[in-house]
Amino acid sequence: MRNEIEGCNYQVIEAPPWLSGYIYKDVLRGRRSSRSIKIQGIEFYVLGDYSERLLNNMCRYLKDNVEIKPSDISDQVVYVAAKLNSNLRLNDLLKDIQNEICTIVNASAASILMYEGEYLKFLVTVGKASGMIESIPVPMESIAGRIFQEEKAMIFNDLENNPAHFKGVDKASQFKTKNIVGSPIWVENEKIGVIEVLNKTGGFTQEDGQIVDLFARLIGRKLLSSWRYEKFSGRFKKILLGIATAIDKRDNYTHQHSRNVAQYSVELGRKLGLSQQMLEKLEFSAILHDVGKIGIPDSILLKAGKLTDDEYQIIKSHTIYGAEVLSGIKYVDDDIISGALEHHERFDGSGYPYGKKDGDISLFGLIIGIADVFDALSSRRTYKDAWQISDVLRMLEEDTQKGKFSPNIFDKLKELVQEMQAASQ
Ligand SMILES: [Fe+2]
Repeated sequence: MRNEIEGCNYQVIEAPPWLSGYIYKDVLRGRRSSRSIKIQGIEFYVLGDYSERLLNNMCRYLKDNVEIKPSDISDQVVYVAAKLNSNLRLNDLLKDIQNEICTIVNASAASILMYEGEYLKFLVTVGKASGMIESIPVPMESIAGRIFQEEKAMIFNDLENNPAHFKGVDKASQFKTKNIVGSPIWVENEKIGVIEVLNKTGGFTQEDGQIVDLFARLIGRKLLSSWRYEKFSGRFKKILLGIATAIDKRDNYTHQHSRNVAQYSVELGRKLGLSQQMLEKLEFSAILHDVGKIGIPDSILLKAGKLTDDEYQIIKSHTIYGAEVLSGIKYVDDDIISGALEHHERFDGSGYPYGKKDGDISLFGLIIGIADVFDALSSRRTYKDAWQISDVLRMLEEDTQKGKFSPNIFDKLKELVQEMQAASQ
C-alpha cells in the first residue's frame, strides 16, 4: 500500500486511533489494515483511521530520515507518547514515561499510581538488576486520590501547607515533594491511575496541566498492557518456581538450585546481549531445566551408591523427558525446550543426551549448562559442602580449556562472579 500524500514514496505509516482522536480531529485520509510497521524503533499499528497531519509528518520523517521537530508542545507530547515502547517491561516503560514528561515540563520527578481494588498504588522499582515492581497503597484522601476522583488535571503549588499530601510516598522514594501537577491516566473513558509530576522551580502553570493531561491520555493503553503483563508474568513465575522447588527438593538439592540457575543464566544472557524477550524465555527455560527428573524413579535419582551404566542412562534421559514435558505446554517454544534438552551437552561433544558439539548446541543449552554446574559446585548439598568460588572457577576454567564449555560464556561468568563479589563487599 502506498501513501497518497505528495512526495512520499514510502508505505503508509499507521497510527493508533487515540492519536487521531485526541488532537488530530481532521477528517482522515486513510485505510484500515491489520498490519503494523516498525520504523527506527517506533511501532505504529492500525486500529482505525489515521491523521493526515500525522501522516505527513511521519512521511517526512521517513523520507528525510530526520527527527521531526514538533511545531508545538502538543505535537511534542504526541511524538514522545508514540515513541514509548509498549513492548518494554513495566519498569523500563515507567522510567521512560517519567523521564519524558519531566523533560517536557521541566520537572524533577514523576510518579505513576495505578488503581487497583480501592486504592491507588504507587509503583516503585526495586532491585537494580531485577527491575521488580512493588506497589505502595496510597489512600484516596491523598492528592493523587483527589485528582483521580475529580477526573481532571490539578496543580498544587504549595504542598508544604497541604495536609492531603501523602508523606508515605516521599518516605518510600526519599524525595521531598514541593509542588505537583497531576492527572488521571485514561484508557478511553476509563480511569486506570494517576500520573503526578513533581517539583518545578517556580511552580507549575496551567499549560503544564494541559500537557500532563494530554500525556496521561496518550500513555494509558501502553501502561495498562505492561501493567497487566507484569502481573500475569509475576504470578506465572511463582507457579514455575513452585514446581522447580518441588523438583529440587526431591533431588536432595537445595531448594534454591533452579532459582539460582535461572538467575545466573539471565545475567549471563544479559551480558551476551540477549533481548528482553529472550531473557524472559531463558529464565523460564532455566527454572524448569530439570523438570524431566519427574520421570526418574526415586530408586535411581536418590541412590547413594554408584550408579550402574543402565541407571546412568536413565538419569541422562531427564533431558529428553524435560523436553517432552515442556513441549506439551502452550506458549513454550523451541528456545525454551532447548535449555532443558541440552543443558548437559558439552562444547566438545562429551555431553548428553546426543553428544552435540559447539555450534549444534543451543545458546540456552550452553548458558544453562554452565550456570547449572556453577551453582551445583558453589552450593552446599546433603552429600557435600559448598566449594570455594575460586575453586569452582578454576575447575570451570580447566574444563573450558579442555573444550567442555564455551570460552565466551565462561568469560561472562567470570565477569558476573566478580560483580557479585564486589556487590557483596
Ligand atoms: Fe540436569
